[in-house]
Amino acid sequence: MSDEVFLKYESNVRSYCRKWPVVFTKAKGSKIWDSNNKEYLDFFNGAGALNYGHNPSYITEKVIEYIASDGIIHSLDMYAGAKSEFITTLQEKILKPRGLKYKVMFPGPTGTNAVEAAIKLARKVTGRSSVFSLMGAFHGMTLGALALTTDKASRKGSGVNLSNVEHIPAPYYLNNTFDTIGYLEEILTDDHSGIDTPAAIIIETVQAEGGVYVLDDKFLRDLREFCTKHDILLIVDDIQVGCGRTGYFFSFERAGIVPDIVVLSKSIGGCGMPLSVVLLKDRLDVFNPGEHNGTFRGFQLSMVSGKAGIEMFINEDVASQVKKKEKIVESFLKKEIKPLLKNNQEYRGIGLIWGIDFKDGKLARKALDYCFANNLIIELAGRGDSVLKIMPSLVISEEELKQGLEIIKKAVMSVNK
Ligand SMILES: Cc1ncc(COP(=O)(O)O)c(C=O)c1O
Repeated sequence: MSDEVFLKYESNVRSYCRKWPVVFTKAKGSKIWDSNNKEYLDFFNGAGALNYGHNPSYITEKVIEYIASDGIIHSLDMYAGAKSEFITTLQEKILKPRGLKYKVMFPGPTGTNAVEAAIKLARKVTGRSSVFSLMGAFHGMTLGALALTTDKASRKGSGVNLSNVEHIPAPYYLNNTFDTIGYLEEILTDDHSGIDTPAAIIIETVQAEGGVYVLDDKFLRDLREFCTKHDILLIVDDIQVGCGRTGYFFSFERAGIVPDIVVLSKSIGGCGMPLSVVLLKDRLDVFNPGEHNGTFRGFQLSMVSGKAGIEMFINEDVASQVKKKEKIVESFLKKEIKPLLKNNQEYRGIGLIWGIDFKDGKLARKALDYCFANNLIIELAGRGDSVLKIMPSLVISEEELKQGLEIIKKAVMSVNK
């Protein structure tokens, strides 16, 4: 199968395919095959939508059973059995054991839908228009979410002013010395700062698209305290690093904080099915019926796969698996990759999301090309696409994990020779 049809008919906006210009036809676990039956190891995993790998049998079997039994597929936000089971599983197996009390809102199937709903809700609750996001953030591509997103290339496409957002330097600014909380405190208490108190501050606890920057536990706790003190809502965008990626179901658990609103998408759909949710504290449940709407908020197949994904997370003790594999990756990077790095190149990460920062997009691209030529699918992130983003499935075998890391080592050697 050739790429002819895509080159001829698909919009120029297509992007990932340009890095891996083959036609993929089949996938299982951490493996993906192209139309020539060439096998690749996948360290990209749908940008975080496939935490449990491709087509995990436990999940796909439930989906097949559901279709075969003529279960409801589409039902807007009518009451439906699959949705009832998804909500119950989320409440009983994830939220209650963590002492979290949230209502669940279904905003539409994508991550950016969840972000839009969250900031719209925060604005309605507080009556304030501005939202703060951190420099380096990625929160989606529709106008509201895009205003929070920071990379120039994405913002340029908006065609209008991106407004009602202030961007705050992240703690890793000024060579990891920036006092983000001190800065926030000053701009909100100085009556000459020109900056109004926002409705909410939205963060990713690990800036993934921004280049794999992990915000430390103390910062997260201080930010929680700051938001409470100033009556600002704290929104955690766990779309990419939630659902186990950091070794906890929610990425903020490591800091022991409770956000006011949490947005989830990608792997909450279990096996790559479109699903997103907004989790909100009871007191924030102020939308009138239908005030936020959308035809595909009730895609029941995603509820089936999402419920099965949560079950898999628990049954296979994915959190412990991630903590074990985190050690393998971290020690490999320290022992095998660090000695190969030059100048100010570095690696960063947590759980099963790591980045090798080449500080140069051309070098990172060379590493990606080397990996692809050696049957490893891996993506870039960060400023100038200079970071090779390592994101294996959370249930990858240790053998496959080491196999992929060895390819990355050879890529770094070839780039830095
Ligand atoms: C942290 C974060 N928020 C939001 C989004 C947007 O999600 P979607 O692409 O499903 O709209 C992404 C996508 O990569 C993301 O990583």
